[in-house]
Amino acid sequence: MKILKLEAENFKRLSVVEITPQGNLIPITGKNASGKSSVLDCIYAAFAGKGAVPGKPIRDGEASATIRLDCGDLIITRRFTERDSYLSVASAEGAEYKSPQKMLDALLGAFTFDPLTFSRQSAVAQFKALSDLVGLDFQQLEEANIVDYDERTALNRNAKSARASAENIQVSDNIPEDIVDTSLLVNELAEAGECNANIEREKEKRTSRTRMIDAMLEEATALKAKHKAAIKEINRLEVEAKQDKPLAEPIAITDLRQRIEVAGATNEAIILRDEARARKKEYATKAKKAEAESNMLTKHIEARKEQIAKAIASAKLPIEGLSLDDGQVFLNGIPFDQCSSAEVLRASVAIAMSANPQLRVIRIEEGSLLDNDGFELIAEMAKAEDYQVWIERVSDNGNVGIVMEDGHVKADNQEPAPHNLSEEQEGPLEGQEPQLFIVEDE
Ligand SMILES: Nc1ncnc2c1ncn2[C@@H]1O[C@H](COP(=O)(O)OP(=O)(O)O)[C@@H](O)[C@H]1O
Ligand SMILES: [Mg+2]
Repeated sequence: MKILKLEAENFKRLSVVEITPQGNLIPITGKNASGKSSVLDCIYAAFAGKGAVPGKPIRDGEASATIRLDCGDLIITRRFTERDSYLSVASAEGAEYKSPQKMLDALLGAFTFDPLTFSRQSAVAQFKALSDLVGLDFQQLEEANIVDYDERTALNRNAKSARASAENIQVSDNIPEDIVDTSLLVNELAEAGECNANIEREKEKRTSRTRMIDAMLEEATALKAKHKAAIKEINRLEVEAKQDKPLAEPIAITDLRQRIEVAGATNEAIILRDEARARKKEYATKAKKAEAESNMLTKHIEARKEQIAKAIASAKLPIEGLSLDDGQVFLNGIPFDQCSSAEVLRASVAIAMSANPQLRVIRIEEGSLLDNDGFELIAEMAKAEDYQVWIERVSDNGNVGIVMEDGHVKADNQEPAPHNLSEEQEGPLEGQEPQLFIVEDE
């Protein structure tokens, strides 16, 4: 389906416009602000309705605007007033469709896809546009990956710093494993002291006894009267003395004191060592946990990447040789931005065509950016595939295509197509001069 006739009144810049497109390429030319985009926009607004209608569709000073597209099988009329818009879609015989917008939506492909704009976009924007065109949406997955990337960076940083802290802690190896029980040694010391005191007391006792014997012997000598009794006492004491057990060797306590001192120092070292061990263990645990979480995030990120890659690999792209990979569009395996501009333009137009299979109408807004070869290429493709390409070009000379001036058609330089449009119809009639069609000012 194509547009056989376009009529518009008071839409944006347009006053009264009637265009009967001839052939496959319809250049809309004219100076700046003459109403070229208004023509392209009125086609889009007529088909797409809401969302495609500019903020102020009605020409300044007018009360309403009307667009009428005769597409052969369908006649589309859209009218705008200050408050409302009306749509009627009728068959060629005049029967009106009940759900006119639904009817048009079913016809519309990727009508906004402008091949020239696409061909001039960055690799990233092209990838996005093509993904959108074939219905791929990675936004959620990519956003989730960005969140996980950030979190993983923080975790890796924590893990690294915990590892470094663990490395920096020195744990000495030449200290006994277990704490020495000094209370046992202190008890032992007390017992030894007691024992030694007993020995001292016993020694004392024995010394005084010897002295007593001496004193008594002296006394006995001096006191003969008491001699006998003294002898007896001496004998008794000597008997007693004979019963004494040998004295134990005194215990050396200097050594014990030294051991207590050493044990104290050792224990302090053990406490410090154990603290260091605990901290080292704590940091190692922290690092292990962060590393495990980081690994988990890596898995999630990889899984999403795989999901994206799978979706891309299985996406049905509109033309042969086109592929998406690694955020770029490829044409026969070559990144789009490395292909020649002709190759890119050809592919872009082919995409636009394949994306609009029913309504064979394509709009190109920035046609002025095309060189002659590009223009020719689009003309050839439009003819070969039988698409109607409406293309806007700034031009001052007024002798190409439909020339706009001040919101109306100033001249129609189209070469008229033969009347009996049929399968074998070829381009313009040979030898025919371009027809100049002047529309009067309103
Ligand atoms: N509703 C409107 N009423 C009057 N003028 C308008 C309206 N909308 C846009 N314009 C004017 O139309 C001109 C742009 O028209 P446009 O069709 O984009 O021209 P072109 O594509 O030829 O450069 C601008 O001067 C703009 O101010
Ligand atoms: Mg324009």
